[in-house]
Amino acid sequence: MGKGKRVEGDRAWEDRLIAIRRQLHQYPELSNEEYATTQAIRRWLEEAGIRILPYALRTGLIAEVGGRGSGPVVALRADIDALPIQEESGLPYASAHPGKMHACGHDYHTAALLGAAFALKEREAELAGAVRLIFQPAEEKATGAQQVIASGALVGVSAIFGLHNKPDLPVGTVGIKSGPLMAAADGFAIEVDGIGSHAAVPDAALDPIVTAAHIVTALQSVISRNVSPLDSAVISVTRIHSGTSWNVIPDKAVMDGTLRTFDERVRTRVRRRLEEVVGGVAAAYGTTASVRWIQGPPAVHNDTELAELGREAAKRSGLEVVEPPPYTAGEDFAYYQREVPGLFVFLGTAGTQEWHHPAFTLDERALAPSAAYLAQLAGDALDQLAAGQTSIAARS
Ligand code: NI
Repeated sequence: MGKGKRVEGDRAWEDRLIAIRRQLHQYPELSNEEYATTQAIRRWLEEAGIRILPYALRTGLIAEVGGRGSGPVVALRADIDALPIQEESGLPYASAHPGKMHACGHDYHTAALLGAAFALKEREAELAGAVRLIFQPAEEKATGAQQVIASGALVGVSAIFGLHNKPDLPVGTVGIKSGPLMAAADGFAIEVDGIGSHAAVPDAALDPIVTAAHIVTALQSVISRNVSPLDSAVISVTRIHSGTSWNVIPDKAVMDGTLRTFDERVRTRVRRRLEEVVGGVAAAYGTTASVRWIQGPPAVHNDTELAELGREAAKRSGLEVVEPPPYTAGEDFAYYQREVPGLFVFLGTAGTQEWHHPAFTLDERALAPSAAYLAQLAGDALDQLAAGQTSIAARS
């Protein structure tokens, strides 16, 4: 696409985006409670003359630039929710809401998407189609993307782009990888049922604690013996609860944990093996056990053609492209990619802490270039789609 008015080069424009990000940062809201955040986004969009689309979402909103009913449609997505964490960043604009914090940088994503929206609005007449702007709620609960899809907001969209800040990448870099980037993130809850007794009379019991201990150990063999050395998976047992006293063998133990995988075949196989191991170990100790799955998003899996488009757009935006290793955190952007081809990228923000840390920060100098990059991505994708230079539309 052409250069249009280079609003993204303005110092005032950069300052405005930083001010927006700081306001969002100071007033974080948790998943599905993003009412004030949604109102603020709506106001900023309306001030810029950007139309809001009437999709039924309780929080979050959908807007659009360009198009007016003709030409292809591509989507840009930012998540808008915060985390139940007490902020310890010490920033002057730290969270004013006790126990809530933008500790994953979704404030930055929201501000970047607003910046992209403003930049696209400035060159609206040049756009070869429409850019749908998805301000998504509840990413941290991995339910927001499904709400957006259920609202119909993805209908007619040929490709979707999303971003996440990346603390370990320097400002001015973008991490792009085709194929699997972030993991399918399932939760599990295991319940072991035995028979309790006096702790001094273990032969009268079927001890769920001994069973649980063996289950934890045996589960690690699923990773080492049932997953190919060339694939990867994580099983972490993160909570065990049983018993009420030092001198009583309890009758029940419960365990929670998570499974992370990048490949659906591995995911299916590990889930089956986990259930078999839990059942088998429990039986060996005379107890019974059940597994309940908390189904998470599938793996973020980037479209090869869009990844190439993303690399080209990065060059045009003056960003350096790096290929990040896959990351075992989950991201509900994956649900969009089951509907249409998608690209999820990492923008370098030179943070001092990892995501979800109470002292999480990022370098705000990354904000304006990230906004400009999103606008470039959308504009380039529209150009390619309108010119029939891509097979993306055929696959969406
Ligand atoms: Ni996040």
